[in-house]
Amino acid sequence: MPLNLLNKWKMRHLVVQWEEKFSGQINVAKNLLRSENLNSSKMPAVVMSASGGDKQFEGKITIYVVICGIIAATGGLMFGYDIGISGGVTSMDDFLEKFFPKVFERKHLAKEDNYCKFDNQNLQLFTSSLYLAALVASFIASKVCTNYGRKVTMQAASIFFLVGVLFDAFALDLAMLIVGRILLGVGVGFANQAVPLFLSEIAPVHLRGALNILFQLDVTIGIFVANIVNYFVANIHPWGWRLALGLAGVPAVMLCLGSLIIAETPTSLIEREKLTEGLDMLKKIRGVDNVEAEYQELVHASEMARQVKNPFKNLMKRSSRPQLVIAIAMQVFQQFTGINAIMFYAPVLFQTMGFKNDASLLSAVITGIVNVLSTIVSVVLVDKAGRRFLLLEACAQMLITQLAIGGILLVNLKTTNEIDHSIAIWVVVLVCLFVASFAWSWGPLGWLIPSEIFPLSTRTAGYAFAVSSNMFFTFVIAQAFLSMMCHMRAGIFFFFGGWIVLMGLFVIFLLPETKNIPIDEMTEKVWKQHWFWQRFMDEEEDSKEAINKEGK
Ligand code: BGC
Repeated sequence: MPLNLLNKWKMRHLVVQWEEKFSGQINVAKNLLRSENLNSSKMPAVVMSASGGDKQFEGKITIYVVICGIIAATGGLMFGYDIGISGGVTSMDDFLEKFFPKVFERKHLAKEDNYCKFDNQNLQLFTSSLYLAALVASFIASKVCTNYGRKVTMQAASIFFLVGVLFDAFALDLAMLIVGRILLGVGVGFANQAVPLFLSEIAPVHLRGALNILFQLDVTIGIFVANIVNYFVANIHPWGWRLALGLAGVPAVMLCLGSLIIAETPTSLIEREKLTEGLDMLKKIRGVDNVEAEYQELVHASEMARQVKNPFKNLMKRSSRPQLVIAIAMQVFQQFTGINAIMFYAPVLFQTMGFKNDASLLSAVITGIVNVLSTIVSVVLVDKAGRRFLLLEACAQMLITQLAIGGILLVNLKTTNEIDHSIAIWVVVLVCLFVASFAWSWGPLGWLIPSEIFPLSTRTAGYAFAVSSNMFFTFVIAQAFLSMMCHMRAGIFFFFGGWIVLMGLFVIFLLPETKNIPIDEMTEKVWKQHWFWQRFMDEEEDSKEAINKEGK
């Protein structure tokens, strides 16, 4: 590369840097003037807050915020209900006989291999197609979220979901069933992108973590309710499965009607240049009149974000690498704990061990309760004990339980026998201990951490990556688990154990603690202090990388 081109590039880069540096101040100044017109007070505090210092915004927990939070979180119910219902439905004879006759036959062959009787690519496709659709939908949803707002995105989610429910509940053949799952997936992709963002944006700063985990809490409630529904409809022949799939419409209707009442977030209004509406909404949800500091920060942040023409491109910069790697790694690891092998296929798994249909569905109900209660533990502990503590404790607990389950099955479950009832009960206890540790750690933190580590300019794009990676790896597990179990047999649990060791090392060495750190101070207080990630914070390196790209 000729030297003058390098210099030219450096100069240009310098100008951009200075522009970025001062445009913030200029914008803040403009906003101060604007807010002067809106009869504001406390100017100096505003400057402090906009420039990223320690701050406390005024605000109460208003009834309105609580109602909005509860309604929006029903998006989590939709997601959770789906996770829980497919396992039950795919173990129901009426359903299998109609859509998967081969699996149905195999299931009833006494001599069939225990570990392989449910191995069927189409059966797995029924479960996994939803996640593939959600993966693609989350990128579209991130655009809709930015351009039309969180509320509209949630409304769209509930409509897609409702149509999907109709297709599935009235399915006449496999094609109709899969189309329904795809539509449900689009609904889930839209909801999972908009709901956590919505919750974080309406929450007062000091309650952001707890409100965000409300989403996961609803996911677990959705799974639990689905397990109960599975249990009761299993004996309604021959259409119990239709009822199970049809009831998914309930959370969707709740979200659809509820979203008529809820507010659009001030961030989204301001982002779309509806400044006065944004200010009014902020006052309404905070329940106080003096919201200047927060308002100014939102205006400032949205103007900074607007200067980033292409957030996805920005995300590829070297300085975004720590957040991007962590957001994606959290999803890979969350899924490779093996949780969804249990959430999707618990009834199937318990039948594999020799439980009868009812007993295995009941066991799934028990794991469902454990899942909900343990998520509440996380709500209480996450801002006290910290993220790293919860994740590491869970790694130890999950490793021990996975190895124990694997060991028991290795010794006791051969190709065609049933295992002793008392041993099977021990397996259920171990599964509960496993689920508990997941539920207070990798479950909620898989969604919380990606939502708090990105700077505003890449937040929605970065979050879309997190959602879609989650969906991708959920898809991989849903599609592959039954075949993996058929080929690896009890070894599948050692396979997940290996991943758990890896994720423990990842937390120890590469995941910084983010507890109680304001989002916009992450760069200074977290990334620049971290032994490994600090090298990515060097702006010079970003420039060199860009020069290299330009030279090519
Ligand atoms: C995960 C799901 C999982 C659920 C279990 C969520 O955080 O994303 O894949 O099934 O937790 O509660």
